[in-house]
Amino acid sequence: MADRELHRGLEGIAVAETRLSSIDGERGELVIGGFPVEGLATRATYEESVFLLLNDRLPTAAELDSFRTELAGYRTLSEEVEQVLRRAARENVDAMDALRMGVAAANLGVDATEPTEPTEAREYAKRLVSVIPTIVATYWRYRSGDAPVEPREDLGHAANYLYMLSGDEPDPAAVRGLETYLNTVVDHGLNASTFVARSITSSESDLVSAVTGAVGSLKGPLHGGAPGPVLEMLLTVYESGDPEGYLQETLDAGERLMGFGHRVYRTRDPRATVLSGAAERFYADAGDEAFFDFVEGFEARAVSRLAEHKPDRPLETNVEFYTAVLLYGVGIPRELFTATFAVSRVGGWVAHCLEQMADNRIVRPLSVYVGDRGRTWTPVDERE
Ligand code: ACO
Repeated sequence: MADRELHRGLEGIAVAETRLSSIDGERGELVIGGFPVEGLATRATYEESVFLLLNDRLPTAAELDSFRTELAGYRTLSEEVEQVLRRAARENVDAMDALRMGVAAANLGVDATEPTEPTEAREYAKRLVSVIPTIVATYWRYRSGDAPVEPREDLGHAANYLYMLSGDEPDPAAVRGLETYLNTVVDHGLNASTFVARSITSSESDLVSAVTGAVGSLKGPLHGGAPGPVLEMLLTVYESGDPEGYLQETLDAGERLMGFGHRVYRTRDPRATVLSGAAERFYADAGDEAFFDFVEGFEARAVSRLAEHKPDRPLETNVEFYTAVLLYGVGIPRELFTATFAVSRVGGWVAHCLEQMADNRIVRPLSVYVGDRGRTWTPVDERE
């Protein structure tokens, strides 16, 4: 076993076939359900993107209408989940932990005797997509000391999320910006949280368990936890007016610039390009254009400083940079940035779970044992 090749982080190892998304890290290309992300994200509604992932084709007008109605009908929380969220907010639990607690409590009627029966699993997939925005918004309302806002069935997925957060009629520019974001990050190959979801499914467990695990994985700063710190950085530098000083100090201290670099992309993340376009349109229509101009200038300086700092390693803008800018603009509280990533990514998670179920083999990699062997047992009272 000792001579077995070790693939830390499973880097470079393909463990599943998928029709959901494809990444070309060298060329900076992302395809979702057959569409280049640039062609999908600004045109689709989030419901269309989810339908595409679940059915491997776009819906007809009639199918989209009934899919939207069906999803809208699953938005309400049970009293048990509301209680969990009320308590999480009262105890100042972080949004991602509250989301994990809420999803875990969202039983959704899963029949423990047939947890992976395909028709039922598709049903729960849709229910999970529908209910996650309500979990996040309900937690946020309690956290802010406000009463939860009941979901509205007449609003689309993105508009209803904004409405449940604020209680106000959502602004069309904000809805379009959020919808572009939700479509852009809905799926992204076998990233850590998606792998977790597929791994849990592979033991013939259920979708609620798979999504609960995936939420835990997404929370980490190396995966979905970066946009909050990106926004902190941008606001601090915007206020100080000294981007060069900030870049110098951060890189001299050996710290990483949040929102730059990616495990797979060696170019600018294509999602950053889609989201910067969406942010530019949003800030021109309804935001602080001076802030957006500053952001673009900061990105250019940072990329050039990173090229001097690490000449052998292309470090360009990743998805989290413009996620922070766009979500801040459309009015998502920064404490909810990662949870809003989950609002989108659940569409990818559940589609991967269904794919895994259709062609399952339990995930069982190997580890290379590097510990001692043949130790001699010493009774506890004789140990030093
Ligand atoms: N700023 C400064 N230096 C960096 C950065 C950065 N953002 N990213 C990587 N580097 C440097 C590292 O210090 C390392 O230098 P070293 O070889 O002297 O130690 C070198 O580039 C290679 O870094 P790795 O850690 O090997 O790169 P990896 O591919 O594992 O990391 C990651 C990718 C985690 C995204 C990294 O670039 C990073 O930490 N970025 C900042 C955090 C961030 O933006 N996270 C969101 C990622 S997007 C997403 O997951 C959805």
